[in-house]
Amino acid sequence: MIGAVDGGGGPRIAVYPGSFDPLHEGHLDIMRRCRPLFDEVVVAVLQNEGKAPLFSVEERVDMLAQILAGEPGYRVESFSGLLVEFADRVGACAIVRGLRAVSDFEYEFQMALMNRRLLPRIETVFMTPREEYSFVSSRLVKEVFRLGGDLSGLVPELVIRRLRERLPPQGEGQAAAVTGR
Ligand code: PNS
Repeated sequence: MIGAVDGGGGPRIAVYPGSFDPLHEGHLDIMRRCRPLFDEVVVAVLQNEGKAPLFSVEERVDMLAQILAGEPGYRVESFSGLLVEFADRVGACAIVRGLRAVSDFEYEFQMALMNRRLLPRIETVFMTPREEYSFVSSRLVKEVFRLGGDLSGLVPELVIRRLRERLPPQGEGQAAAVTGR
């Protein structure tokens, strides 16, 4: 049964879920902003193989773990199935989501209300990234990279290296269809 944890007294754990395909600085900014509010932040990578991700779940977990190594209070895991069930399993009291712009709001609002209906004890906490990351999305990162654009400062160096291995930049006008947030 889900919902058995009351959240009182124990460590305050938040789940920061996402596809992270790939991770960008906007994601990291949200992680670092929410970290002081909780005892532990579980960064949860969705196993969404159906979406034909660029990086496998293992690769995404590995990049996150390397980038967050040395920063205490984070745990990187992957999950499938309902997010609230995962959050319940790890004893979380909150789900953290980033809100970049009004355009994110409708989808996020629907998810937050559905998650609340499924497991009322878990709160969704919305956080806004630094303004300079408010336009950055994984979908645009992939598109700009494919077209040879400069992503420095928007994507961690490790991710840029992995993108180079995975996606040799193409010439203008050859961008393949890309998906993901
Ligand atoms: O980075 P994304 O792709 O915007 O993250 C979306 C994510 C992982 C938060 C969402 O797809 C999700 O929670 N998936 C798990 C399945 C689930 O619980 N669906 C019901 C959500 S109300």
